[in-house]
Amino acid sequence: MVLNNLIKPIDLITDKDFDLVYSPAIRALSSRHWTSIKIVKKAVNFLCYKENTKILDVGSGVGKFSILGALLKASNFFYGVDFRKDFIEISDNLKKEHRIENVFFLHNYFDKIDFNNFDGIYFFNSFHERIDKDTVIDELSEFSYDLYKKYTQEFFLKINSMSEGTRLVTYHTEDIHIPYTYRIVDMHFEGKLKFYIKCLDEGDLE
Ligand SMILES: C[S@@+](CC[C@H](N)C(=O)[O-])C[C@H]1O[C@@H](n2cnc3c(N)ncnc32)[C@H](O)[C@@H]1O
Repeated sequence: MVLNNLIKPIDLITDKDFDLVYSPAIRALSSRHWTSIKIVKKAVNFLCYKENTKILDVGSGVGKFSILGALLKASNFFYGVDFRKDFIEISDNLKKEHRIENVFFLHNYFDKIDFNNFDGIYFFNSFHERIDKDTVIDELSEFSYDLYKKYTQEFFLKINSMSEGTRLVTYHTEDIHIPYTYRIVDMHFEGKLKFYIKCLDEGDLE
């Protein structure tokens, strides 16, 4: 599968090629805020372990992870949620322009989403902009440790309520934000990319 305005097949597309679908301002945020293709490939191979899995990208930005995931794994479904309206509009426009039917974008705060509708979660340390001035995205990056704590706790509870067998991939995220019911099954890129599977209860971890 190819993106219409790019000549290369999806397997050969580089970050530089892909990022051309965005404006220069959005492209400038890419190396810091959008998942790179080599990470997307590893993550979706783990998340999409069977057909028809539904994957939620918590804080989907301008859709890079979800769109690439949908192109690479055509028999699976990707959903991105983000509170920034302009990012969701950019993502939706790309979906429409390139007629990608297995990706969907939701304009909302992640805590308004029912995580039980999904088989897998991708999380690229989405709340970090609240506590690190080097990761400011725009004027909505209100600096607030309280907000960071609130979001982190809500995320913890949301994934904790998901069913046994749920797959979770985190990128640049500390283990303390993940419930102990999630077992780490693999790690890549010096431990920055972590793969987890949810176990039923404490006993399953032994
Ligand atoms: C590091 S970016 C990751 C983007 C995307 N997952 C990717 O890898 O290409 C994190 C995103 O999380 C979003 N975000 C932060 N807090 C959020 C919240 N409470 N609810 C929904 N989205 C949130 C931000 O707007 C930002 O676009």
